[in-house]
Amino acid sequence: MTGKLRSSAWLDGTDEAALLHRAALRSAGATPDGRPVIGIADTASDLNPCNLGLRDLIDPLRSAIEDAGGTAVVFPVMSLGEDLMKPSAMLYRNLAAMELEETARAYPLDGLVLLANCDKTVPAALMAAASADLPALLLLGGPRTPAMMRGRRLGSGTDLWRMLDERRTGRLGDDGWAELEHCLGTTTGACNTMGTASTMALLTEALAMTLPGAAGLPAWSTELAELATRTGRRVVEMVREDIRPQRVITQAGLDNALRVLAAVGGSTNAIIHLAAIAGRLGLDASLDHAARIFADIPLLADVEPCGARLMQDFVAAGGLGTLLKALGELADPTAPAADGRTVADVVAEAPAPGEVIRPRSRELAPAPTMAVVRGSLAPDGAVIKVAAASRELLRHTGPARVFSSYEDMRERMDDEASAIGPDAVLVMRGCGPVGAPGMPEWGMVPVPEPLARAGVTDMVRISDGRMSGTSFGTVVLHVAPESEVGGPLALVEDGDLIALDVPAGRIDLLVDGTVLEHRRQAWSPRPSPHRRGWPALYRERVLQAPEGADFDVLAAPTPDRRRVVPP
Ligand code: FES
Ligand code: MG
Repeated sequence: MTGKLRSSAWLDGTDEAALLHRAALRSAGATPDGRPVIGIADTASDLNPCNLGLRDLIDPLRSAIEDAGGTAVVFPVMSLGEDLMKPSAMLYRNLAAMELEETARAYPLDGLVLLANCDKTVPAALMAAASADLPALLLLGGPRTPAMMRGRRLGSGTDLWRMLDERRTGRLGDDGWAELEHCLGTTTGACNTMGTASTMALLTEALAMTLPGAAGLPAWSTELAELATRTGRRVVEMVREDIRPQRVITQAGLDNALRVLAAVGGSTNAIIHLAAIAGRLGLDASLDHAARIFADIPLLADVEPCGARLMQDFVAAGGLGTLLKALGELADPTAPAADGRTVADVVAEAPAPGEVIRPRSRELAPAPTMAVVRGSLAPDGAVIKVAAASRELLRHTGPARVFSSYEDMRERMDDEASAIGPDAVLVMRGCGPVGAPGMPEWGMVPVPEPLARAGVTDMVRISDGRMSGTSFGTVVLHVAPESEVGGPLALVEDGDLIALDVPAGRIDLLVDGTVLEHRRQAWSPRPSPHRRGWPALYRERVLQAPEGADFDVLAAPTPDRRRVVPP
């Protein structure tokens, strides 16, 4: 042990306060006799099937903590379920992060194991861990067993979007649609494609916040229960050695996380989450920095939506260690791993790349798989997942068709569809962090039905929103500043020419400056529809996407690290 336990400020002594504190823990079955108190943050919930299996990991975790000389206490945390929360689980990511951080701060905890799985529970846990700065590991629930339909293995999200297209174009009838619901409603665990959850699991491992080999271990597998045991043991060790997230999460690890994100064709949402984590630690995950890293990284993982397989195949092929091995000198071998070793050690033991995780000599798509664009339409930047886009649309100029909100798009799309040509650029605004609020995953605007029936599969779509990590198409996202705060997206009108040039890193609104100035004079912010509660607070404090959509009051790096968690 490197010093006094943090919990001793509550538990040591003979006065009535210490006595009461010890008694309170004893009544929960803990043994507050000088052992490290390890909090297990439980995000399992019937409302969040992705996290439901975490319940079964608590017992092995608790036993491992006790066996290693700690004492475990389980506490509930808001569970952010992507499937059921409206308007978006993202609206609550910062709330869950605050809840976790403040719980860690207020209680006599020496270390944390954060149970997480679905898209937003993982970044919320990482953000909280970074700010609370107690020795911490994440234990992730893993991807769900693939659903089967008519002999076909369904990848979460991605195959749903494909079947939605089949339904809209008349190739999938009502019976097939009903069958799909039953097939999907059978398993728990995270999405098994390279959506946000799988992406964030890999990035968590790259950031050394979960044990090597942990990311992507399938839900309900024996490996996962065994991982719970190793996680419990390791976190007690980390308390003894005072290994905290602010030391563990380094720029080297963060840069590797950005490389991994690009190499797996991961979720664009992860760019926002990494920026939020970096913002809390004073590290750099700015769009310019990310773009420099993305420039060199090809697609190496054959996993949906950019490839054909699922997370289970990725893990069987060696997981993150093999991917880092495939990246070779593009990855930083000095970055730490969560078990105290380095990336170099992990890579040395990893299986060689093959089919699912390719060597660079047989890349699946060239670099970059992700790109940042800037210009008069997005002065502070926007992002596009190049690997999921159509090559021929990466340089495209076309007339804008503008929808002022998601509701407007849903209402008018079909009426206006006949007037929309295949070269149109579909613009949707009002979907940003402030505008929606919470920046929902509305960015994959559907191809208008008449065009889809005529065989058009992709168009350029631009918004200040996000899209699901399981989505695909030539979709420009996270336009900043967003329209709601007066970004140029607010000024676009039907018929304006928009030029997208991904190789040049540009996105421009080809409208004369004086015309735009007139439009700006005529523009005024709409009154907030939120007068009370969390959405009102959220609108007031949330930063733009390039800053991770974190809160201004949470984002600043802590000047004095030792004082992050009193005492
Ligand atoms: Fe929860 Fe995909 S909806 S992981
Ligand atoms: Mg998602």
